[in-house]
Amino acid sequence: MKISVIGAGYVGLVTGSCFADLGNDVICVDNDASKIKKLKSGKIPIYEPGLEELIKLNVKEGRLSFSSDIKNSVSRSEVIFICVGTPPKNNGEADLTFIEGVSRDIALSMSSYKLIVEKSTVPVNTGEWVERTIKVHNPRNVKFDVASNPEFLREGSAIKDFMNPDRVIIGVKSKKAKDILIELYRPLKSEIIITDIKSAELIKHAANSFLAMKISFINSISNVCDRLGADVNEVSRGIGLDRRIGKDFLNAGIGFGGFCFPKDLGAFIRISEKCGYDFGILKEVQRVNDMQKSVLVKKVEEMIWNLQDKTVGVLGLSFKPDTDDIRAIGIISILVKEGARIRAYDPAAMVKAKGVLGARVKFCKDAYDVAKNCDCIIVATEWNEFKELDLKKMKKLMRQPVIIDGRNIYDPETVKLLGFKYSGMGRR
Ligand code: UDX
Repeated sequence: MKISVIGAGYVGLVTGSCFADLGNDVICVDNDASKIKKLKSGKIPIYEPGLEELIKLNVKEGRLSFSSDIKNSVSRSEVIFICVGTPPKNNGEADLTFIEGVSRDIALSMSSYKLIVEKSTVPVNTGEWVERTIKVHNPRNVKFDVASNPEFLREGSAIKDFMNPDRVIIGVKSKKAKDILIELYRPLKSEIIITDIKSAELIKHAANSFLAMKISFINSISNVCDRLGADVNEVSRGIGLDRRIGKDFLNAGIGFGGFCFPKDLGAFIRISEKCGYDFGILKEVQRVNDMQKSVLVKKVEEMIWNLQDKTVGVLGLSFKPDTDDIRAIGIISILVKEGARIRAYDPAAMVKAKGVLGARVKFCKDAYDVAKNCDCIIVATEWNEFKELDLKKMKKLMRQPVIIDGRNIYDPETVKLLGFKYSGMGRR
């Protein structure tokens, strides 16, 4: 099929290169000409395992190209995926200006039937608005359909998630749109749910909110475990084996980060408010998540007392392993405010973190470099290389042997036997 993917961001690039890899003819479009120039010269603007290779292969085989000319790309394609950003406004609501702009551009470029598919996470009713916008700017009355096809890929495993989805959600109004999308997704051999556009839009919000709720739930349990001397990992295993609960997304820690969960949760709370429903559970999910940072900082203070002029090492700056999206900023800001000196290292997120944290942090070349003269080490991201550290060596380099394990990657007993003072999240 001939496809245009509008928006060469995270979702757009992965969607475009995966559809190309499945044998389609794909143009990835972005109005940022410098980004397109970089992509054309083989430079990939994001860090995602396997993406660079996939893009290069499909460009070489002539199935994938890049353009900043939306008009030409739309006129050459039958299916158009909208993957532009929907950033949060100050009140949490999603800003849909880019979606509207792209819908108008598509309408003005249409000369034959088009299927316009929204893949960006959008509030319910966006499909209606896209349809209305296209109608307004489509004087020649070219036939078109609008569909919703939310994307569930995760950063760090985006290609695998795209190619092996648990399910594909397709929200459509017409048989033609349904048939095109079923055909497009047939090679993935995954279960396809066909539904109406509004329900498809809602599925994405409900899924992300539910997952965020699982994380805040287990973090709340971990806070109770801390108080009672129980072990949250044991509780998590014990409840996760109940198939009605499921064992995924029950790792306690310092809360969820990244771009999607916080943004989508805020947006869904606003959507509910706007339609007259106070989604109180989700507000609590947000509150618990915000609080986890302070829980961690409190643990540091319990171990090393005042933070003024103490040196704290932070292992991991990304919001999860295998991504360079930074997260530890919130924690670092609190520690700096309390007067601590910060040494930090991350296997992938150093460049981005330097841009944001700058002079406030001493960026180190590896975990051992971080440990030098530290009064305490915080594990903020569960990168594999941190799980395999030589802790004896770390201990020798530190001023005080203290580990605050924000991601529960170490066995408390083993670490304590090595002579560390250890505190995990909800672990004895
Ligand atoms: C998420 C959704 O999973 C994905 O479906 C959606 O399309 C985009 O948002 P992503 O933000 O890439 O994907 O990350 P994910 O792997 O879901 O993790 C989100 C955050 O939750 C991370 O900070 C992670 O550390 C945290 N998390 C996850 C926990 O704290 N505990 C868990 O058990 C699982």
